Amino acid sequence: MGSPHWKRLCLLLLAALTSSLLLYGHYYATVELPGSQRLVTSLLHPETLVLAPWGTSHRAGSHRWTLGGGSERGKSFKPSAELEEPTPSRKQPSSCLRPVMVRAKANPRFGQIFSFDTPVFMWDQHFTPETWDKLKTRHVPYGWQGLSHRVVGSTLQLLNTSANRHLFDRASLPRGCVRCAVVGNGGILNGSRQGKAIDGHDLVFRLNGAVIKGFEEDVGTKISFYGFTVNTMKNSLIAYEEYGFTQIPQAKDLRYIFIPSDIRDYVMLKAAIQGIPVPEGSDKGDKPQKYFGPEASAEKFKLLHPDFLHYLRASRFLRSELLSTQYGTLYMPSTGALMLLTALHTCDQVSAYGFITSNYEEFSDHYYELEKKPLVFYANHDMMLEAALWRSLHRAGIMTLYQR
Ligand SMILES: *[C@@H]1O[C@H](CO)[C@@H](O)[C@H](O)[C@H]1NC(C)=O
Ligand SMILES: *[C@@H]1O[C@H](CO)[C@@H](O)[C@H](O)[C@H]1NC(C)=O
Repeated sequence: MGSPHWKRLCLLLLAALTSSLLLYGHYYATVELPGSQRLVTSLLHPETLVLAPWGTSHRAGSHRWTLGGGSERGKSFKPSAELEEPTPSRKQPSSCLRPVMVRAKANPRFGQIFSFDTPVFMWDQHFTPETWDKLKTRHVPYGWQGLSHRVVGSTLQLLNTSANRHLFDRASLPRGCVRCAVVGNGGILNGSRQGKAIDGHDLVFRLNGAVIKGFEEDVGTKISFYGFTVNTMKNSLIAYEEYGFTQIPQAKDLRYIFIPSDIRDYVMLKAAIQGIPVPEGSDKGDKPQKYFGPEASAEKFKLLHPDFLHYLRASRFLRSELLSTQYGTLYMPSTGALMLLTALHTCDQVSAYGFITSNYEEFSDHYYELEKKPLVFYANHDMMLEAALWRSLHRAGIMTLYQR
């Protein structure tokens, strides 16, 4: 395979990013990128961290979406199915209240942004010379520049089942309206008692350090999809072990959603489908069964399409001002953001739980922390932009954002 994109050295770093929204944490591991950009990843946190110059990280974001005053704060939240229509005249006659696509297309602003034609998943037939030529000119995280043709191609070749082409099989679900809950890991869920409401959805997405045991009342137990990059998955196991996140969720009907951000994701995915130890690269020797359970089959795994990720990151929803800084190549939406936007492009109704809200300062970083910790802002994410987007989507009636 091509040499791993980032060479990893371990070194202890304490970083404090000051801004109006200040944060701190313990960060480890410096990675050299070709072109000598320095990327700092955290072994204690599932998201990749980039050290930004002091005080710059907060400036990105909020340019497209406004994170206005909290007029909806304190309003009680109801799961989407029970929500009243904010504008009764637009009520859909179907039994599926507020389908995402109808709402999004009808909205003057979001109608211009959503593109439901963009393929969400990638499968074997997408690996054409045209796709290769296009994606090899785009750098990682969501392009194939510098990646091995052999590795990417042989991985995609294995995604040849119908299950690889869509999130779910409509015919297998009992009713015509597919209601999805996407559960982020935000502290807002601590004490929320939303478990029943979450489990009441047809499909439930979870991601990264999704601790369930001990928090069933607040976050539920159902899990249909687990989303991650290999980096965030492995870092979650390290960072949240102390909170009981000792294993990646496993269940017969659970499907894994790979976010391809690096060659590692392709290498791991291939080994997982083949049921063999990772043969090469930085995860060499890892047994995929340890993460995903004994069942090795293409049906178990889905791969987000790099074009879909590119569309979310650079074109429309989450185009951050970070992209035009020296950190531009490292900017990625959070794993939660990618899962929520995946749900918004595939489900009929979407409820978001545990995502950043305008009053995030009142809550701990994660729901499972024993003592309140401030939300950690990583300079390669743009959480304020995400917060404003969720709020706008909620206000537009396209999804429901759990707030309290
Ligand atoms: C998918 O590819 C695998 C490995 O090349 C092959 O064994 C299998 O028969 C293929 N399945 C389908 C549905 O084409
Ligand atoms: C979680 O909620 C409990 C009770 O509601 C509270 O005692 C605890 O401090 C909260 N944890 C955090 C990290 O805020």
